[in-house]
Amino acid sequence: MTDTQQYAISEWHDTAAIYARLKQLIKEPPRTIRRDKMEAFLKYYDDHCRKSRELTDAAKEFIPGGVQHNLAFNYPFPMAIEKAEGAYMWDVDGNRYIDFLQAGGPTVLGSNYAPVREKVMEVINRSGPVTGLFHEYELKLAQLVNRLMPNVEMLRMAGSGTEAVMAAIRVARTHTRHKKIIKVGGAYHGWSDQMVYGLHIPGTGRFEAKGIPRGASSQTQEFYPNDLGALRRLLTLNLLTGGTAAVIVEPVGPESGTRPVYKDFNQKVRALCDEFGALLIFDEVVTGFRLGMGSAQGYFGVKPDLTVFGKCITGGYPMAGALGGRKEVMMHLSAGIGGTGERAYVGGTLSANPLSCVAGYYALLEMEKTNAPVLAGKAGDRLTKGLNDIIAEHKLPFVAYNQGSIVHLETAGVMLLDFRNPLKIARELKPRNHMMQEMGAAYMAQGIITLAGSRMYTSMADTDAVIDDALGRFEQVLSSVEGA
Ligand SMILES: Cc1ncc(COP(=O)(O)O)c(C=O)c1O
Repeated sequence: MTDTQQYAISEWHDTAAIYARLKQLIKEPPRTIRRDKMEAFLKYYDDHCRKSRELTDAAKEFIPGGVQHNLAFNYPFPMAIEKAEGAYMWDVDGNRYIDFLQAGGPTVLGSNYAPVREKVMEVINRSGPVTGLFHEYELKLAQLVNRLMPNVEMLRMAGSGTEAVMAAIRVARTHTRHKKIIKVGGAYHGWSDQMVYGLHIPGTGRFEAKGIPRGASSQTQEFYPNDLGALRRLLTLNLLTGGTAAVIVEPVGPESGTRPVYKDFNQKVRALCDEFGALLIFDEVVTGFRLGMGSAQGYFGVKPDLTVFGKCITGGYPMAGALGGRKEVMMHLSAGIGGTGERAYVGGTLSANPLSCVAGYYALLEMEKTNAPVLAGKAGDRLTKGLNDIIAEHKLPFVAYNQGSIVHLETAGVMLLDFRNPLKIARELKPRNHMMQEMGAAYMAQGIITLAGSRMYTSMADTDAVIDDALGRFEQVLSSVEGA
């Protein structure tokens, strides 16, 4: 079947050129914001964010660290948000920000999109957010996803992307009767015991696995991004120990493309999976419907056996997670009618509910109708080009690149440090981390909210005027860097 979808990526980037620039960035000492300028940026928080400070100080008594979310920016202190609409967020002190965090990615239509909210309210008014029994919107959403992504023959909702990944792994193991799961080093697949392995930085294995017994990740393996030779070696070695259940990838590369793939990477992983009898899992938690209504698998023309969804699958409403895929594989999840073969047990009190399903259904329909992923991608292109112009003008070593509406702005390069150089990591991890925090705080003081100071998601609400306004603000920060 020919894919007639449009995609958010105007042209796949020159991956080798990006790696060359990133390598150079990491080689140089970190280029931080000049101290006098940084003081001025931090003064913004003292002068304008009093209520945020009071609230989040109080929260520290009752919530570990004062916030619930790892993405929330905590330097110099967490911000409390009161309102979100379209391209903007407002904090409790009434300050307005351009929102490039977008709740971590689900809101391609822009925040709090009214046509979706109204449909959600109708359902809540009628059935409440949950009944525990089947609701027609579960069917409507599954049918819609199948129309947009024909590889997703069946869909099962989950509570989050993390849960959907857990389900994917369990199903893959049940189906293949193999145990090993291979991931790409540095990729994020949620926080389940078996996936907190090789997190953020490739080669780090159990570095972050505090509180996780060794056995829980003993069947997880990682290979270096884009290293197909290493993947083949793992698949071959695993033949001696019972085989590989699945290879799981983020289709644009680990950490939402922070270490981007070469364009034919996914196709080659597919071929290796076929050769070795492993399932291919696409983790489309970020890329699903963001790269286009056909998602990354449509863009790359690759057919995974299983697809993990999060974020956009419920249009920014809770609970954002689902697993989809080939019928024969998915039937291991059968909770109701016609279960065949061995069952892979998954559950969740709220995993399927009218609220999530109606939100997902109308969000996806609206995204299709408005061409939101493509518009968001155009905004991403404009932002990236503008950032690269600023970088060039000030002769900075920083690197901006994008995969449509996923925009990377590497200044500190924390996640690009190489674990094969442990001395450099020991020396630079902390200062580079702090620099990233400073960059994020400076952007926010200039009215821009980013994802952890190094990534931006653009949405349909980001008109040319919004992007150009943002670029003026980025200019203020980037021109304040040492040596600019
Ligand atoms: C690629 C990817 N997979 C899985 C997850 C986990 O999803 P969740 O946060 O919904 O558990 C994320 C979260 O950001 C993600 O980016």
